[in-house]
Amino acid sequence: MSEIEEKIERLARLILESKNIVVLTGAGMSTESGIADFRSPSTGLWEKVDPYEFASIDSYRAHPAKNLEVMLETGRAIFSARPNKGHKALTRLQKLGKLKGILTQNIDRLHHKAKTQNIVEFHGNVMEAKCLQCRRIFPITDMVNQALQGKVPICEVCNGMLKPNAIFFGEPLELDKLAAADDMLVDCDLLVVLGSSLVVYPVAWYPQKALSMGAKLAIINIQETDMDSLAEVVIHEKIGNVFPKVVSIVEEKIN
Ligand SMILES: NC(=O)c1ccc[n+]([C@@H]2O[C@H](COP(=O)([O-])OP(=O)(O)OC[C@H]3O[C@@H](n4cnc5c(N)ncnc54)[C@H](O)[C@@H]3O)[C@@H](O)[C@H]2O)c1
Ligand SMILES: [Zn+2]
Repeated sequence: MSEIEEKIERLARLILESKNIVVLTGAGMSTESGIADFRSPSTGLWEKVDPYEFASIDSYRAHPAKNLEVMLETGRAIFSARPNKGHKALTRLQKLGKLKGILTQNIDRLHHKAKTQNIVEFHGNVMEAKCLQCRRIFPITDMVNQALQGKVPICEVCNGMLKPNAIFFGEPLELDKLAAADDMLVDCDLLVVLGSSLVVYPVAWYPQKALSMGAKLAIINIQETDMDSLAEVVIHEKIGNVFPKVVSIVEEKIN
């Protein structure tokens, strides 16, 4: 058995032994659906644009037209993306009664599209637009249609500016999301991290938090993370190459 196969078996065993499993996902979860992450060398978004520039609230307010151009370009990849093998494996795991829910930094809604239940989106999502003035929520198409006509998208109710309902740099996290994540972690005995560099907060808190509450930690990420040494199992591989195999082993053992 290869080292990777052995780790796949170990993770499957950990899942079988655990009762309250929570999965934490980052942008690496969606790269296999064609959505670039921020930090992967050469393909990460930071290699191409400065997110502080196009995804910061101050910059959007000051130069909406310029920012909308980049948003429309990155948005296109997200709107047309489909869940990948990893997202689907999570839904299978949940149907087996082995996944309580997902905490995610992703804004792409792919966990929803894969029909996984009980998801906390720390950074919101880009399928909705929000009015910066009255805070009403609209379908993102309302915003996109106006932007495609070269307009700065505005709210039909109060004329305030619309933005995607995803957290921009410079905006605070929503407290109800943090509370929902804490609720999900109650009694968690295994936290599985998929595709996160674990350097962006709040996601970077959760491995330590789960460990301090007595949970075990497992990580699948192509690159090393600062939390690797704290995990029971660490697999440096693409999620799609290993996680569906983990779930298949769990499925076999349960059925
Ligand atoms: N899909 C999205 O919704 C999306 C995309 C880009 C950025 N973002 C936002 O940007 C921030 C980025 O933080 P982050 O920590 O989630 O992502 P990150 O970009 O910091 O880290 C992603 C990690 O995933 C790894 N990775 C990439 N492809 C992988 C694969 N197929 N299998 C396993 N690992 C893989 C990379 O090596 C990297 O360490 C988040 O706050 C998020 O809101 C979201
Ligand atoms: Zn409004």
